[in-house]
Amino acid sequence: MGPDLLHLSAAGVSLVLDCRGPGLPSVAHWGAVLDDAELSAGLSPATDPQPIGFSVDGTVRPSLIPEQSSGWLGTPGLAGHRDGRAWATAFRVTAIDRADDAVHIRASDAAAGLDLAIDLELHPAGVLRARAAVTSTAPGTYWLEHLTLFLPVPERTAELLDFTGHHLRERHPQRTAFTHGLRVRENRTGRTGYDSAYLLCAGTEGFGNRTGEVWALHTAFSGGARSIAERTYHGWSALGGGELLLPGEVSLASGETYQTPWVYAVHSLDGLDGVSSRFHRHLRGRPHHPSKPRPVVVNTWEAVYFDHDLARLSELAKAAAAIGAERFVLDDGWFGSRRDDTSGLGDWFVSPEVWPDGLGPLVDLVRGLGLEFGLWVEPEMISPDSDLARAHPDWIMSTGDRLPRPARHQQVLDLANPAAFEHVLGRLDALLTEYDIAYLKWDHNRDLVEAGHPGTGRAGVHDQTHALYRLLDELRARHPGVEIESCSSGGGRVDLEILERTDRVWASDCIDAHERVAIQRWTSLLLPLELIGSHIGAPESHTTRRSLPLATRAGTAVFGHLGIEWDLTSAPLPELAEWVALYKELRELLHTGTLVHADLTDPAYSVTGVVAADRSDALFALIATATSASYPPGTVGLPGLAEDRTYHVRPQPPGHVADGNAAAWGAALPWCTPQGVRLNGRTLGTVGLRLPVLYPDRVLLVRASADSAPGRVTE
Ligand code: DGJ
Repeated sequence: MGPDLLHLSAAGVSLVLDCRGPGLPSVAHWGAVLDDAELSAGLSPATDPQPIGFSVDGTVRPSLIPEQSSGWLGTPGLAGHRDGRAWATAFRVTAIDRADDAVHIRASDAAAGLDLAIDLELHPAGVLRARAAVTSTAPGTYWLEHLTLFLPVPERTAELLDFTGHHLRERHPQRTAFTHGLRVRENRTGRTGYDSAYLLCAGTEGFGNRTGEVWALHTAFSGGARSIAERTYHGWSALGGGELLLPGEVSLASGETYQTPWVYAVHSLDGLDGVSSRFHRHLRGRPHHPSKPRPVVVNTWEAVYFDHDLARLSELAKAAAAIGAERFVLDDGWFGSRRDDTSGLGDWFVSPEVWPDGLGPLVDLVRGLGLEFGLWVEPEMISPDSDLARAHPDWIMSTGDRLPRPARHQQVLDLANPAAFEHVLGRLDALLTEYDIAYLKWDHNRDLVEAGHPGTGRAGVHDQTHALYRLLDELRARHPGVEIESCSSGGGRVDLEILERTDRVWASDCIDAHERVAIQRWTSLLLPLELIGSHIGAPESHTTRRSLPLATRAGTAVFGHLGIEWDLTSAPLPELAEWVALYKELRELLHTGTLVHADLTDPAYSVTGVVAADRSDALFALIATATSASYPPGTVGLPGLAEDRTYHVRPQPPGHVADGNAAAWGAALPWCTPQGVRLNGRTLGTVGLRLPVLYPDRVLLVRASADSAPGRVTE
């Protein structure tokens, strides 16, 4: 056994575990950093809840996996049984090992026949992650319902923020009061989901982009998931996360173990920007984080859809090269009978009908133009109208007696079936071996409905998700240089576990810049910009029919991993080339800097910026998505700059001020000129800049370069 209190601390965060036992450790504090010396004075006696009448006798301290045996009557951390017995547990700690900022806890309940292991890690950026594993140690079957980790938050958390959404509108925020009771965000779609809770945040009243204290939790799993916020009249408030298991999905024979997904959690004293800065620093610190400059992508989907034609695609590739693109991605439609979305999934052979000489001629052309070649695949899926389905109908996920309802005319391949797994692995491996492919756009275009193993009929989302992880791991091991994008009919699979084995996410099929402002803002609460695919689309959006100028489409798309998804053969190439050049000039800033957002009361405007790590340079986007009630609008502080440095602030070309600035009826703002204005960071942060009158759906990029730093000056 270890000491009574264990203190982990990193980057201004403390986690104090109360290990007085004999039950599972509880969290005595998770939040702002504490002084080690104070802890020895006795944090737990100072904060232990008072025993109350007409409740269980003694003090009730819910643990990381709360149990009824400790007096806890809220959501249990572990639910399961042995044919009706062993449903309540009383784990006793057998070992606590600490190595730097990681703690490994082991516990046992001999009567229930279960062992429990909990891993906790506090990473250098202050990101905490935890997972648990339960092992059956007794004969018979232990039927697991769920294993959920909880982290308590203080009572001063008054509001909750989490996310919802749908195809073309992923990750939109929703706020509620944090009242007594249980808020459970369940995902039953068999993928992370457009409407996943994403980040479940509890914060002090009115917490904003840069104000308020916030605790946030992310359940990192690409199958079923549950994220929980619970507040009880016992004075206990907590955030929890774990996998959502279907009935009978996980059963443990003696010696078998179930492991939860990682649950990630951060605390911020600086509102939501503090949350994202911790996650971004953490993700950027991973050894496998993409490190080479994020190449400009040209994707063929909205340019040609299924209409694959070598001559047309060759013209597109040449135009891509002409504007400075660096990666050309051939989307859906190159294989089997796939001339539309009704057939062909599973037949991962190049279609002789549309590609009589294989993909070689296009790959060679693209490589010859100096671009990388990327290919679209959807390996987990199968079309009933495919050679694969005709040969192996028993490889389609189902409850065994009927096929699930189709979605986009397709079904799901049972990857937990070793034969199906090997088949898909073999085909992908063969394609990556035959062609010079640098990138896979890995799609997944349906929810999992009645997703069982056809042989037994048992629920299979858990197995399917882990089989997917194994498939990606194996492919990456065989082809280490290949980058992979996580796409799921747009942004339906965005979570930190898929990102352990992929290099970017496709945030949404909606590339309308108006919609993208929100989608990218909230996706970037968790992910740094270099992991978020953002494309410049056609002038009229294919998904909303909204028409927007290039400066708006490009000015929002540069805040991400830039791509273009537009029929370039009819696009203004010189203007596009200017935006590509700007992105290349700024991508190091955008992909290593700190993402900031101003707190504005004017709902028509938002201000997003990226400030270089050394604060020598910054790019801000002043965005109007509606007309403002104030005419002219007010001022806005530019956040994140060094207070004592002087910045040269001016519009950043190629976006044209006159294009977005409704000053056509008045005079331009004095600072909205190439000469701009020079002010120190303190003044820019507190007094700020007067917002220009922008037409709705216009973006003005603003550069702020510290006087000693190089910048692209416009005079
Ligand atoms: C859905 C994706 O999100 C799109 O970008 C495109 O790849 C289509 N699937 C292709 O079927």
